Amino acid sequence: MQPIRYGMIGGGQGAFIGGVHRTAAAIAGNWSLVAGAFSSTPEKSRASGAEIGVASDRTYGSWAEMLERESALPADQRIEVVSIVTPNHMHAAPAIAAMEAGFDVIIDKPLAHSLEAAQAIADAATRTGRRIAVTHTYTGYPLVKQARDLVTSGKFGKVRRVAVKYTQDWLSRAADLEGNKQAAWRVDPAQSGDAGAFGDIGTHAANLVEFITGERITSICAELTMLPGRRIDDDGAALFRLSGGGKGTLTASQVCVGDINDLAISVYCDEAGLHWRQEEPNTMRIGYRDKPTEIWHAGANRAYLSPEILAIQRTPSGHPEGYLEAFANIYHAFGAQLRGGAAPASEPGYATMADTLAGMKFIAASLESSRLGAVWVNL
Ligand SMILES: NC(=O)c1ccc[n+]([C@@H]2O[C@H](COP(=O)([O-])OP(=O)(O)OC[C@H]3O[C@@H](n4cnc5c(N)ncnc54)[C@H](O)[C@@H]3O)[C@@H](O)[C@H]2O)c1
Repeated sequence: MQPIRYGMIGGGQGAFIGGVHRTAAAIAGNWSLVAGAFSSTPEKSRASGAEIGVASDRTYGSWAEMLERESALPADQRIEVVSIVTPNHMHAAPAIAAMEAGFDVIIDKPLAHSLEAAQAIADAATRTGRRIAVTHTYTGYPLVKQARDLVTSGKFGKVRRVAVKYTQDWLSRAADLEGNKQAAWRVDPAQSGDAGAFGDIGTHAANLVEFITGERITSICAELTMLPGRRIDDDGAALFRLSGGGKGTLTASQVCVGDINDLAISVYCDEAGLHWRQEEPNTMRIGYRDKPTEIWHAGANRAYLSPEILAIQRTPSGHPEGYLEAFANIYHAFGAQLRGGAAPASEPGYATMADTLAGMKFIAASLESSRLGAVWVNL
């Protein structure tokens, strides 16, 4: 299979997630980075391209230039997909322009800085017929997929309660904002959107809930707060209701001192409770009333895992896989489907437009609920 030629927007010198995308695409093995507009500053874009190893004549000064010049190349040379790894306010314009120029898109979460901008991306995808995948990282982990298989099979009964938390501490001090490129735009509503932590990591938590349960969050009652001097939330908690009748709680905070990247989820069904934690991603605990607690391990020789899940693990059993491989699973699944492969039976392997629009509605409803004094708001 010919690798998919892609161009990246964002991800230049000093950026965070662009490098993760490039590594993930390289691990996936079915992608080839051939072009990029890596920064809003043309000189920095060119310097970044040289460092990354992209040809100088395909390292562009702006994303608009990339789309125009790549479109003019022969079909068997030009990029096929655009990977968008810019701050949230810079998602919609390049995503819509890329699809209108005939390119498919892989884009990081949240889909956009506002529900309106996200809807404009969705409309463009419908209008142009282009495909779009969103990188909700945590759905790429083997045991998260296994959890989804178990819960959605119904073998544990219905989902009664979900408890999900995503807590970090990297914005817990006023000084954390000084000279920090990643912090600077995340606390600025013009670039992040009206939500802070709830948009940045709360969407991951909400997406994980919906992914594992196979249900949607239908209403939410949220209280979002922030440290003095900040303009958007850096901490918050919510009650939510699920489409299947279950209930849940969600915490998203970037000021919980001592927590590094503590995404953890518990899904309680009629007959079992299932627990997974991102900082220990290769084990999953399942508790019962009438039999001993089980610890499930990731690993390609754990024959109790589903065949599709065994197939997406790369290291010899007992050698832990993690963040980069989970991300690579998303790239691989999207790439394989772009080349005409069939989607896995249970889910496509990446967040779809419907999944990510649900995340944007989660953000909007959380903000409205909190603004109204923590009342229930429907999504
Ligand atoms: N999936 C995940 O787990 C995950 C993790 C981190 C960030 N993200 C998302 O990834 C996106 C980027 O976050 P980050 O932390 O990497 O930000 P960052 O600030 O580290 O990097 C953003 C990059 O975009 C570039 N950029 C900005 N405007 C541009 C433009 N007009 N043209 C070209 N490049 C431009 C910047 O120069 C920089 O290189 C955000 O939407 C964020 O929510 C997702």
